[in-house]
Amino acid sequence: MSDPTREVGPKILLRARGVEKSYKVGGAKLEVLRGVDLDVREGEILAVLGKSGCGKSTLLHVLGWLDRADRGEIVYDGRDHAKLPASERAHLRNRTMGFVFQFYHLLGELTALENVLVPAMIRYRPGTFGAQKRELHDRAKALLAVVGLGHRMGHRPTQLSGGERQRVAIARSLMNQPRFLLCDEPTGNLDGRTAEDVRTLLWDLNARSEQTMIVVTHDAKMADQAHRTVHLVDGRICGGEEEAPLVQELEL
Ligand SMILES: Nc1ncnc2c1ncn2[C@@H]1O[C@H](COP(=O)(O)OP(=O)(O)OP(=O)(O)O)[C@@H](O)[C@H]1O
Ligand SMILES: [Mg+2]
Repeated sequence: MSDPTREVGPKILLRARGVEKSYKVGGAKLEVLRGVDLDVREGEILAVLGKSGCGKSTLLHVLGWLDRADRGEIVYDGRDHAKLPASERAHLRNRTMGFVFQFYHLLGELTALENVLVPAMIRYRPGTFGAQKRELHDRAKALLAVVGLGHRMGHRPTQLSGGERQRVAIARSLMNQPRFLLCDEPTGNLDGRTAEDVRTLLWDLNARSEQTMIVVTHDAKMADQAHRTVHLVDGRICGGEEEAPLVQELEL
């Protein structure tokens, strides 16, 4: 198991300030995020913990530009989410971000292999996709093999177990080699051994390609092995502050 012992650089890839998000249900307003402040540095693995229903998935969707915040600022790689035209936002997201959704969101009509290929189909125009078809298929197959599903490539989601669907979703999230990966309980449905394999895969990616990751998790091992852990409590981020430099401690 590879601990993320690699130093994380100073560059902040994602900065969130005062992020608020609420839902309207039957005329009532449910405030979920109440002023989230968070910095994620490039190359960092950040674990997000919190009670069920506290808003972790909501936070991930908002940080990954899949959903809009009601208020606040989300700046990714120097670009402010709210100030980008929708097309540019979608383009940037597709090229640089990968998502592992809590409930997978696989396309039911497609096989496991085709599901993994979807981000590449969105990224490349049909002509370009066709020209690289062999290479992209090989990559998708290799990703499925890495998550232990080399023998299930032709299965549709309903023909897969929960944990297998989760692993297809993980393979799909990596298809475009994203610089920034957002994972919502990526080991939530896996047995201990498979969860360990997924952790190893993600941590190795981080070590090899300095991929930045936010991982929402209840998996204690995953949280322990992240560079930093924060908690979402009452709609705000707690903990995970940088350790005070030694000189400041001495001054106290
Ligand atoms: N689309 C929606 N419309 C209305 N309420 C929603 C919606 N999505 C989430 N909620 C509510 O917002 C709160 C936060 O939901 P969210 O899914 O972000 O929690 P979570 O921390 O990810 O929980 P879990 O650990 O169970 O996955 C919950 O109380 C939920 O019922
Ligand atoms: Mg959730």
